[in-house]
Amino acid sequence: MKILGIETSCDDTCVAILDGPKCLSHLFASQDHNRFGGILPEYAARNHMTTLPKLVECSLLDAKVALGDIDVIGVTYAPGLLGSLMVGTSYAKGLSWSLGCKFIGVHHIEGHILAAQYDCGIEFPYGALVISGGHTLIAIAEGLGHYTLLGSSLDDAAGECFDKVARELGLSQPGGPAIEALARDGKANIPLPNPLHNDNTCNFSFSGLKTAAIKAAKDACHSDLAASLQHAIATTLSERLSNAILLRPDITNWALVGGVAANRYIFSMLHDSVAKYGCKLYCPSIKLCTDNGVMIAYAAKLYAEEGRFSDLNLQPKGTLRL
Ligand code: KG4
Ligand code: ZN
Repeated sequence: MKILGIETSCDDTCVAILDGPKCLSHLFASQDHNRFGGILPEYAARNHMTTLPKLVECSLLDAKVALGDIDVIGVTYAPGLLGSLMVGTSYAKGLSWSLGCKFIGVHHIEGHILAAQYDCGIEFPYGALVISGGHTLIAIAEGLGHYTLLGSSLDDAAGECFDKVARELGLSQPGGPAIEALARDGKANIPLPNPLHNDNTCNFSFSGLKTAAIKAAKDACHSDLAASLQHAIATTLSERLSNAILLRPDITNWALVGGVAANRYIFSMLHDSVAKYGCKLYCPSIKLCTDNGVMIAYAAKLYAEEGRFSDLNLQPKGTLRL
């Protein structure tokens, strides 16, 4: 079964082709975030319109697959920037209709969670800490399409906190990788808040931490601030994940997914912290942590194997709970 996976929920245009579990092509085109100091939704959507058809063409050449050989098209239909989602879903629906092949709409967060299964071989049920630019949440992946939400951010996402502080420091966007690189030269010696420290839920809060870091940016050494922010984010993630482990002692395998999971300092702290409970933490390779077409193609593969296809009337949704 050859599956074309398309991901356009935010600013990156991502395409992948799987043949069963084998990845034949994995391409993406990133937009220039620095022109507007972040993502401009209208610009992002227009960019997908011109980039997506070309990227699909390149991906077919890369995979040495003819368009007519595609059996299933999987596409992110929610959540994300509505304009960007509309471009991806309209394109995928049109292509699937013209080819007469199956169409599957994939929830973006489910795609991230399944990336751990694809890359690390982890099986249901497992816990997942999703840390991306738009979402921070903890869920138990009980089965395909079946997730129990334990907690989520009450305000900003972890990635947003990295990005906004990076912008204040004059670093390039997306800010997470830039902060991680700068933090290597710094010391985590600047006191920053530890959000919801005494709270025993699995919820998160990052807006207070973000504001405190932005305020500290005026006088602090930037590399020390980067190291302190990274440490503070890792600490709160570790505390919330510990709460989740205590809440669901039946779950021993945990996955760290989403763009922020690419951060090696965070992975290492969380890895050690879950080990204290006798649990194991899995994390996909960096290219499969950030947005990608492979996770969407893989999710579509699992749904297709169960014969769970989408209707061509499926509408994109900017917000949709897991
Ligand atoms: O999952 P993702 O690619 O897109 C969304 O679904 O939002 O996540 C993007 C986020 C951005 O906020 C970016 O700054 C962050 O992931 N990110 C990182 C790193 N690489 C990407 N944050 C911290 N350290 C990194 N190395
Ligand atoms: Zn994402």
